[in-house]
Amino acid sequence: MAALIKDILKLHAASQDVVVRGWVRTKRELKNLTFIEVNDGSSLTGIQCTFDHPQADLSTGASVEVHGKLVPSPAKGQAVELAAQSVTVIGKADPESYPLQKKRHSFEFLREIAHLRARTTTFGAVARVRSRLAFAVHEFFHQNGFQYVHTPIITASDAEGAGALFQVTTLNPEEIARSGTAPDYQRDFFGKKSFLTVSGQLEAETYATALSRVYTFGPTFRAENSNTTRHLAEFWMIEPELAFADLNDLMRLTEDFLKFLLNTVLSDCEADLHFFDTHIEKGILASLKAVLDSHFTHIPYTEALIELEKAAADTFEFKPVWGCDLQTEHERFLTEKVAGGPVILSDYPKEIKAFYMKLNPDGKTVRAMDLLVPRLGEIIGGSQREDDLAVLEGRMRELGMNLHEYRWYLDLRRYGSVPHAGFGMGFERLVQYVTGMANIRDVIPYPRAVGQADF
Ligand code: 4AD
Ligand code: MG
Repeated sequence: MAALIKDILKLHAASQDVVVRGWVRTKRELKNLTFIEVNDGSSLTGIQCTFDHPQADLSTGASVEVHGKLVPSPAKGQAVELAAQSVTVIGKADPESYPLQKKRHSFEFLREIAHLRARTTTFGAVARVRSRLAFAVHEFFHQNGFQYVHTPIITASDAEGAGALFQVTTLNPEEIARSGTAPDYQRDFFGKKSFLTVSGQLEAETYATALSRVYTFGPTFRAENSNTTRHLAEFWMIEPELAFADLNDLMRLTEDFLKFLLNTVLSDCEADLHFFDTHIEKGILASLKAVLDSHFTHIPYTEALIELEKAAADTFEFKPVWGCDLQTEHERFLTEKVAGGPVILSDYPKEIKAFYMKLNPDGKTVRAMDLLVPRLGEIIGGSQREDDLAVLEGRMRELGMNLHEYRWYLDLRRYGSVPHAGFGMGFERLVQYVTGMANIRDVIPYPRAVGQADF
């Protein structure tokens, strides 16, 4: 394997012979000299290669192998450069048709050529930060005694009761339409109706009540018809679940987890974060660093409503009313105006939360918590789980759920029930939070959303 450019850039220039492989980002010609910047995606910056004769074959987008000597660079912003001796064009890129020219392209345009956008500075940086964050997730849980559990992608149960499910079937819709009869799901692949999972939580709970601390980290799917900058139809979710834990334990875990992730990228992805701070979201570095030195503000939903009601009448498009789900504008107000940082909102009205959340003694609210952050609003949603069989069954009946289908889930309360709690973090929302990228479609390689499943 040839060395990566990120490692070559760290070498001290002692006229070492090196080989660089990558893609030409830019090319400049000055009299007899030719300068190309070669980038292999291993770091934000590529390496400048200088030739003392014209290089007609080299053009932006071509893949190359350059041999030369590493020398101190007279140019500013780089310690070393390559005094090139020879170059092989491995794959040409026709400058007439290569879509990534030197000019700045809009993110909208780049979404249409998502197969090439990782070759831009912005999307290379997003990809590296995303990768580092994913690894940090595993590091955090591994260090804290959590077991990684692979929960199923195909499931017959609706974990959130929200109904935004993608159906999985091998029945032929055209045949069913022609037959004029209702589909017979007993003849479907799984012998019953099944779906892509919206959350691995229910299955994670079964492992938490055996292994004490577990987490899942996998793709989840929601057929929500919401065309926003924060929703995808396919996104990755991180879901820890802890036995012998209550809402306070969960809130502590939330804060420790986010701080660990921020700490990791602040120290390991410095150059990339600097780029985001300069070009994407000014001030983001300082605001992420400030989070590390702060304590998250905790506000119960009912108190948050009082804060929101105090705001000037024309602050919100939607009037905040107790019992209603908070809008993004309310969540942002709480983080940006009230707390000036992340907020853990807790104890929501039971009507706006899922069936499995533990009922508070007031009978009206549940032991739920959401982590809200500036710019985005909710990035984590979680709760203590209802561990009392009778109460849980009562709530499920109220909601008209089929208890028989959830008998395995109810068994956890029937046999050796324990207080337990967990949350789900939307991984793309985390990447948005850390990079400042405004649209969630730009922090996942191939976004799937309403009307969009290209590549
Ligand atoms: O709040 P949600 O719906 O919670 C659950 O699914 C629980 N079962 C989690 C648990 O307790 N184990 O989703 C959790 C998080 C949200 O806070 C949000 O960050 C993200 O998942 N999320 C989405 N991200 C992108 N696109 C969507 N359509 C999302 N829906 C939720
Ligand atoms: Mg939620």
